[in-house]
Amino acid sequence: MDIIKTLNWRYSTKSFDANKKISSSDFAKIKEILRMSPSSTNLQPWHFVIAETEEGKKRMAKGTQGFFIFNEAKVLNASHVVLFCSRITADEEYMQKLLESEDKDGRYPNDEIKQNVNGGRNVFADIHKYDLKDLQHWMEKQVYLNIGNFLLGVATLGIDACPMEGIDIKVLDEEFGLREKGFTAITAISIGYRTESDFNTTDKTPKSRLPEDEIITVL
Ligand SMILES: Cc1cc2nc3c(=O)[nH]c(=O)nc-3n(C[C@H](O)[C@H](O)[C@H](O)COP(=O)(O)O)c2cc1C
Repeated sequence: MDIIKTLNWRYSTKSFDANKKISSSDFAKIKEILRMSPSSTNLQPWHFVIAETEEGKKRMAKGTQGFFIFNEAKVLNASHVVLFCSRITADEEYMQKLLESEDKDGRYPNDEIKQNVNGGRNVFADIHKYDLKDLQHWMEKQVYLNIGNFLLGVATLGIDACPMEGIDIKVLDEEFGLREKGFTAITAISIGYRTESDFNTTDKTPKSRLPEDEIITVL
């Protein structure tokens, strides 16, 4: 894979071909991309609601009404739509669950190392909870990291995507009962395949980025 080629191939797809579906083998990889993203202290403070069926996409499209109507067709015509959700809290029960899950995966050769990692993670969480008072924001940042990973990841599979912050969070939280489960929606990403007539393909609308010497300082 040529990473620069992939970065130039991908673009925010505005028009999806409603007749093209992501294969089940690619869908399995997509779920693994979501799972394998790094996060600070391996907190993994996320959940993903994926609309695959017409009915699922219709439910997702409830979050693209009113002001957000410009995103409706991207939801309805995509092959799948992934709603990225963030945890609202990281309570003791979750921290313990995480620790045991890491232990099960063989991360801890002994209990001392296990408890040290647990302590360190809790120190970080407490800094954000009490000192900086931005625990939720910190967790949301981890979700955005996953989003970046995801956008590049699906592009390597030749799958188009459109990230959408233009969604009604409250409506989607209600639709999927997210708040009761300790989550809130952050961003949706439609995935599938571009239409030839999409106005945003890079031959018609070239990508635009600030110049290297403006954004990078090499010392
Ligand atoms: C977090 C995020 C939210 C975005 N929200 C929307 C959106 O609601 N609707 C849309 O059409 N594009 C949306 N975009 C697409 C951006 O406008 C696009 O990524 C940017 O212009 C760079 O272009 P490119 O993705 O084609 O390289 C979003 C992008 C990101 C990263």
